[in-house]
Amino acid sequence: MAEQKLSSGRFKEIQDELLDKFNASIFFDNKLYEEDIKGSLAHAKMLTNQGILTEKELEDIQKGLAEVKKEIEEGNFVYDIKDEDIHMAIEKRLTEIIGDAGKKLHTARSRNDQVAVDFRMYVLKQDKIIAAKIKELINSFVNIAQNHKDTILPGMTHLQHAQPISFAFHMLAYASMFKRDYERFMSSYERNNLSPLGCAALAGTPHPIDREQTAKELGFKAPTINCLDTVSDRDFALEILFNIATLSMHMSRIAEELIIWSTSEFKFVTISDKYATGSSIMPQKKNPDVPELIRGKTGRTYGNLIALLTVMKGLPLAYNKDTQEDKEGVFDSVENILLSMDILIALMNTLTINKDAMLKAGKTGHLTATDLADYLAKKGVPFREAHHITGRAVALAEDKGVDLSELSLEELQSIDERIGNDADMSLVNSLNSRNSYGATAPSQVQIQLKYFKEFLNEN
Ligand code: ARG
Repeated sequence: MAEQKLSSGRFKEIQDELLDKFNASIFFDNKLYEEDIKGSLAHAKMLTNQGILTEKELEDIQKGLAEVKKEIEEGNFVYDIKDEDIHMAIEKRLTEIIGDAGKKLHTARSRNDQVAVDFRMYVLKQDKIIAAKIKELINSFVNIAQNHKDTILPGMTHLQHAQPISFAFHMLAYASMFKRDYERFMSSYERNNLSPLGCAALAGTPHPIDREQTAKELGFKAPTINCLDTVSDRDFALEILFNIATLSMHMSRIAEELIIWSTSEFKFVTISDKYATGSSIMPQKKNPDVPELIRGKTGRTYGNLIALLTVMKGLPLAYNKDTQEDKEGVFDSVENILLSMDILIALMNTLTINKDAMLKAGKTGHLTATDLADYLAKKGVPFREAHHITGRAVALAEDKGVDLSELSLEELQSIDERIGNDADMSLVNSLNSRNSYGATAPSQVQIQLKYFKEFLNEN
């Protein structure tokens, strides 16, 4: 015989098991047990300060919740689908342990503000954890950049050779993306660092509660300003989903490059055996499963974002059970991004950079053609004409079976007499010459390195 539920006073019939199965969130929201207990402790303390609970009741609640926490952490807590969610389950167990005081805990509180405060605490905690890990990720890119200010590779547009750049410059492009990601998590944290507790079901409560106190106790900046909004909206969850989706999009781009760079056509990098996989049939294979999975997992982070956006669309105020669908996608995105970041950091820290292959690739595709055109333009040759002369130089190089950067001065001068003795179409000269602010020249990359190191050393 099934047990009656906590809130079933008005019901004459026992709820169908199918309803329990459909309605319950306990098997996934149990992840919020710690936040739930914290929230209850803060609430009970405030109720006591306000004369709503006695000191003795508070003591009982504190002891009881400590016992419940222990049971959960030691694996002795019985999760019962009849309890519907972690909030009811903890309260029921508390009441079993301490008796009547447990029943008073829910004074001036509803599951609506309870779930809102629990979930928000979880999301804020993850904002900080992810942000800290992004710093580690940036650090691994900066460390590589440190040693490759002069390592030349072909910079690409349309995945075609374009202009020479340094590998450090390329690594710091990712550091820049990840720094913005970091800032997004931190600004979401700041914006959402407000306590829902005390909003009760939707309209607040007639009890003389102190929301400032519970907010402070739980580490929030302040209580939220409007209860109807607070129990209803989930944009704090959408923000972390968007931030994760964007971070994983950035990670998927380096993942894709690592996949391309480790092919036998490129050989720019070698992924450590520690993070590569073999084939079950082809003995010679070494596969980049790690970057492929990082790239692949981006799909689910987008899915989780779109799923919650869709859940929230058109919901009338305030709380609706639809909102219970907010949690699993967030848990999934958080767990997967943390794992993906850990392995990307490990992979980058053990990556072998094949300078020679990069340089060799740099010597195909006439990367310094723009340099020659710019050189002539600086000498007063109209750019269209400079473009044409450069085209002839490229044709000469092609005839000779070399790269434009490998033509001798005499060969260049045979094309046009306006090419002076100061003409230098080498890759190194090209790299050094692009020294405008934010550019690839080692002098500029040095400034960028300093910028990211300062950022990493902040607080
Ligand atoms: N399990 C619910 C959720 O995650 C808790 C809030 C339930 N509130 C309610 N009025 N049914 O959203």
